[in-house]
Amino acid sequence: THEPLILGIESSCDETGIGIVRGSTLLTNTVSSSMDEHVRFGGVIPEIASRAHLDAMIPALHAALEEANVTLDEMDAIAVTAGPGLAGALMVGVSAAKALAVAANKPLYGINHLVAHVGVGLLDDSGIEGFNADFMDSLPKEGLGALLVSGGHTEILVVRDITSDVELLGATLDDAAGEAYDKVARLLGLNYPGGPAIDKAARNGNPKAFAFPRGLTARKYMGTDEEHGPHRYDFSFSGLKTAVARVVEGFEARGEEVPVADVAASFQEAVVDVITRKAMLACTEQGIKTLLLGGGVAANSRLRELTAQRCQEHGIKLIIPKLSLCTDNGAMVAALGARLMGEGRAPSAIDFVADSSLP
Ligand code: KG4
Ligand code: ZN
Repeated sequence: THEPLILGIESSCDETGIGIVRGSTLLTNTVSSSMDEHVRFGGVIPEIASRAHLDAMIPALHAALEEANVTLDEMDAIAVTAGPGLAGALMVGVSAAKALAVAANKPLYGINHLVAHVGVGLLDDSGIEGFNADFMDSLPKEGLGALLVSGGHTEILVVRDITSDVELLGATLDDAAGEAYDKVARLLGLNYPGGPAIDKAARNGNPKAFAFPRGLTARKYMGTDEEHGPHRYDFSFSGLKTAVARVVEGFEARGEEVPVADVAASFQEAVVDVITRKAMLACTEQGIKTLLLGGGVAANSRLRELTAQRCQEHGIKLIIPKLSLCTDNGAMVAALGARLMGEGRAPSAIDFVADSSLP
């Protein structure tokens, strides 16, 4: 059987990703990040990200084709992230994909970025034994849970079928978890990206030094066993960020040195506690037995530790793809495109538009 050769393009945030797959085989996964250009602002600036995609797109494409030793003409289809993400950033990838599809006369598949994060499981080499296309084809009826945590998203999904049945259980109402890390790092005078910096600083701190709020975990949001709260599986990190700011301001007003390690550790504990509690609630209530952890924050040492611990307590199998497939990349987009094409799904219309809030 012919395995489709697919070019995948990802540009929803600050990574310009080009991935090439042949069916479930990953040929290349090229990522160019504009992270450095956002450092002095302490967060991703959409306009800068868009311009960086424009600069990186064609060189990244050439590099990927060369590395995979294939040509554009050989492709069976082009797949591109259609959303959700930053509107201008998405538009660069979608425009590039359309141009390539028209020029080379290839079908084009618009891909949902969040579903693609789970689509890495369609690859033979996701970094987890047994997490591959066969696994994705034999999902139990209750589905696979996915906890996606990055600078752009914080979501809990249930995937019952990767191409036709994906449900969003919960999401952040304000900041993404990674964004909260980045903003708090800035308050503490740590460098961007804040995640790794806080992760490191927290190692020497006391996570119980400050009792920071656990957003949307009060009964009126979570509900009880009998009664489901309106934001049971949702997240909010803006109150936490404000609480950290108040503490830091307090030390500064008193002319005292800010205990950076303790604040970092306490903040991190609040974030990770809420994320893992809500993920466990979702899994137990939905009968989910396997949880995938994805997104850039999956690199966080405390999140990995507490998720592993709580999954074990709840009898849930935790799977974490290799980090290059957890962070934003083109391979996941290509992998999902290959699956859609393999299933004989119709490609997207050439005039489809990027949708920053794609459901
Ligand atoms: O998935 P990702 O590379 O892409 C975007 O969201 O664009 O995630 C980047 C995010 C940043 O917010 C960064 O601070 C966070 O992931 N991050 C971490 C760690 N490493 C990266 N957050 C917490 N702990 C880490 N070790
Ligand atoms: Zn992502």
